[in-house]
Amino acid sequence: MKWYGRSLASGCLAVLAGIAISAQAQAQTYPTRSITMIVPFAAGGPTDVIARIVTAHMAQTLGQAIIIENVVGAGGTTATTRAAKAANDGYTLITGHMGTHAASVPLYPKLAYHPEKDFEPVGLLAGTPILILARKDFPPKDLKEFIAYVKANESKVNAAHAGVGSVSNVSCELLNSVLGVKPIGVPFNGTGPAMNALIAGQVDYMCDQIVNAVPQINGGTIKAYAIATPERNPSLPNVPTTAEAGLPAFQAQAWNAIFAPKGTPPEVVAKLNEAVVKALDDEGVRKRLLDLGSVIPGKAERTPASLGTLVKNEIAKWTPVLKAVN
Ligand code: MLT
Repeated sequence: MKWYGRSLASGCLAVLAGIAISAQAQAQTYPTRSITMIVPFAAGGPTDVIARIVTAHMAQTLGQAIIIENVVGAGGTTATTRAAKAANDGYTLITGHMGTHAASVPLYPKLAYHPEKDFEPVGLLAGTPILILARKDFPPKDLKEFIAYVKANESKVNAAHAGVGSVSNVSCELLNSVLGVKPIGVPFNGTGPAMNALIAGQVDYMCDQIVNAVPQINGGTIKAYAIATPERNPSLPNVPTTAEAGLPAFQAQAWNAIFAPKGTPPEVVAKLNEAVVKALDDEGVRKRLLDLGSVIPGKAERTPASLGTLVKNEIAKWTPVLKAVN
């Protein structure tokens, strides 16, 4: 019995050692096949656009295709739940954001994942300032008129968003609470389709990430009242800040970042992070992101550890804000 136990134990150890060596070997040769990047919103929206710009370069570095899969629903939490449960081998990743990996925590009491416990942070891709936007024929001409108009017509005006917990939803909830109004919310599967509705004049206003708005504002198909950051953005030099336009209390900037399921080998996370860093150093990638108004993270903000800290801080920041708004 004793002999049998020892043999079983040493057999088990050998198997475990074998598994560890093979996992390490796999991590060293990673990636040997294409990678799936889940985007938790509709194609054509800000998260999708940022993910496509950066992953196209990452694919060159990694020598494998990165296939974008748009999985929509529940403000991005459907896709994020799926990513949390995916195999932690580096072949399924997610581009999450301030909504899926921070604001969703206080907004969904039964959230099936925890952004910190169920994911390995890989790398921050871009900061995305928030703008207050409206259909081009919405009557108010500037932010002051917008505030007065929305207050006077609160039960008639509507605000498009990408589902509860999305950046557009959370930012406009914050704006509405600053203004003390409760307009009608109109949910979409992402601000890509919400933007189409705004352009078509089917909805009144929206709080959206800059990446989705620059081409439309410059093309005159929608109007922008203000950008909710302390400084104007070089891609939209004529759009005033909320402070300049008379609403300094409304400040909001989102972010998009890559995450892997918890337990993804550190060597794999390191390889992916290196590919993110390389992409963000590439002139072509930088130009595309900057032209769309993104804020490119500095070197120190690109590490997995720094993204982990950002997620922790953002959950701590948004939890009391969103509880107060509710
Ligand atoms: C999107 O890509 O549609 C957005 O990031 C949605 C949002 O969070 O508002």
